[in-house]
Amino acid sequence: MPRDASPRRYLMCPPHYFRVTYSINPWMDPAKPVDLPVALAQWEDLRDRYLALGHTVALLDPLPGLPDMVFTANGATVIDGRVLGARFAHQERHREAEAHLEWFRAHGFIDIHEPAHINEGEGDFAVTASWLLAGRGFRSSPLSHDEAQEFFGRPVIGLDLVDPRYYHLDTALCVLDDGTDEIMYYPGAFSPGSRAVLARLFPDALVADGTDAGAFGLNAVSDGRHVLLPQAAAGLFEPLRERGFEPIGLDLGELLKGGGSVKCCTQELRL
Ligand code: ARG
Repeated sequence: MPRDASPRRYLMCPPHYFRVTYSINPWMDPAKPVDLPVALAQWEDLRDRYLALGHTVALLDPLPGLPDMVFTANGATVIDGRVLGARFAHQERHREAEAHLEWFRAHGFIDIHEPAHINEGEGDFAVTASWLLAGRGFRSSPLSHDEAQEFFGRPVIGLDLVDPRYYHLDTALCVLDDGTDEIMYYPGAFSPGSRAVLARLFPDALVADGTDAGAFGLNAVSDGRHVLLPQAAAGLFEPLRERGFEPIGLDLGELLKGGGSVKCCTQELRL
């Protein structure tokens, strides 16, 4: 049975200043040059796919000196129009948080919380129908989980990330349907206890293997029907189709040099 898509609003930031000048995750190698025109074309392809599917894409102006700003998922978490700002773990990205807050202030958002604790936005927070899943271990502080629970009034499920290649929750877990608690994830990224929690809460989840996770296949965006994901995560396409989803493969290879793909480039504005 094909599923229903629902129209979404996304916040994206063009990679005009994207570079790999420092390394804060194992994917980043400053010695490997980035082809900027190709990065821009890949990003535009993602944006155009969203637009073609009927979604709205708002734009954040890129700032020089903030090469990771293209990864807007990290800049805030928005649920019911309420904005939980980010506080970045690494000094190299600190100024991105303020750029996001300014954008929200300028675009009519009123309920904005400037966080006391480190959280990297939707990099580590994932919204399902029942819970706010929250990653910790590499970036977001466990203290940010209580802060998010209090602000959003949603039960937070803390999940321990243990493999540095999967340093953000959104590199290892993707919400496929936020109306029904359906997810896909890679168990190898999580501690044994967190794996058990995921198996208990999501017994029907699509479980990815290390090959598809390593191709950043979990760094995907779903509108409830279409699932945009890296083309290289070939093993996920058939299981997604079997579940009634329509996988759409993309090549974001240049952005992967920064350790990000589809989801990292996309912040969802839930109004
Ligand atoms: N270079 C960035 C960092 O390490 C990549 C962020 C990817 N974003 C994400 N949502 N996983 O912070």
